[in-house]
Amino acid sequence: MHYSDFWLANTKNLLKRAMRDGYAVPAFNFYNTETLTAILNAAQITQSPVILAVSESALEYMGGEMLMGMIRGAEYKRGQIALHLDHGHSFEVCKYATDLGFSSVMFDGSALPLSKNISESRRVADYVHKINVSLETELGILAGTEDKNTTAKNHSYTDPDLVKDFVKQTQTDSLAVAIGTSHGAYKRKNTNETLRFDILEQIAKNIPNTPLVLHGASNIPQKYVNQINKFGGDIKNARGISPAQIRCAISLHVAKVNVDSDSRFAFTAAIRKTLATKPDIFDPRFYLNAAREEMTKNCIDEIQNIMGSGYKI
Ligand code: G3H
Ligand code: 13P
Ligand code: ZN
Repeated sequence: MHYSDFWLANTKNLLKRAMRDGYAVPAFNFYNTETLTAILNAAQITQSPVILAVSESALEYMGGEMLMGMIRGAEYKRGQIALHLDHGHSFEVCKYATDLGFSSVMFDGSALPLSKNISESRRVADYVHKINVSLETELGILAGTEDKNTTAKNHSYTDPDLVKDFVKQTQTDSLAVAIGTSHGAYKRKNTNETLRFDILEQIAKNIPNTPLVLHGASNIPQKYVNQINKFGGDIKNARGISPAQIRCAISLHVAKVNVDSDSRFAFTAAIRKTLATKPDIFDPRFYLNAAREEMTKNCIDEIQNIMGSGYKI
């Protein structure tokens, strides 16, 4: 199955346009029908391009064929939405996603020695480019929990002196950079830490035609943390990246911004509140729909107030 047989868009084109016009395409992760439709509803309401991101563990959770069944069934308008493998750690999983009908893949070789990162990224590029699927790669290592298989304890910023050669050798279409963001809910010890915009600026200067990608970009809305804790949760010291800093990164060639944790917080906060305030309900559709609506609301908010991608299709 090839993505152009149905309604999915090529990620490369979405990102080139975003970089040219100074906004970012949001990449929101999903894991089931509710989270998928939350994102699609937000895209529809805001008329924003959107990247549907599937991590390796989410792919395993949904099952490849089941996931493609949901995507095909969604019948969305052509050219607005991409389906993307997030943090593929091997050539094999990138090939698998491409063959299923994904329109882009990320090969994440950031934990590999540089020469291996380059050779494996290039191997994936050679496979996916033959069928017009786009490739994202990563140079530098983000801190935090990436997925159940990867916990990056030792982060390292992207070296601006390496990016030009890396892009040339790998033939990547976009590059994920490490400038101080991290995965998960605990990104900051205090609120005045800032991202390394000096590094980002240098990277953008050295590879002016390559759209950059910011992972670990959730802002962790405190209203959801509070709501979770109010209704039985126990989450302490969760802190994200401020919207102002993400907007600043977008002005420096970041054309794709990855958000997963914020959606998890919105979803969980709504479920906790619904179950606590309506103790008599036991139909999962009731609380799952409340969760979907809250996640849609948060995606809309981020599209409008951070990404600047509304009405850009
Ligand atoms: O960057 C990774 C995403 O947040 C995915 O995490 O493997 O738990 O789905 P996950
Ligand atoms: P967050 O944990 O900040 O949402 O990052 C998600 C991400 O980078 C997915 O690839
Ligand atoms: Zn990520």
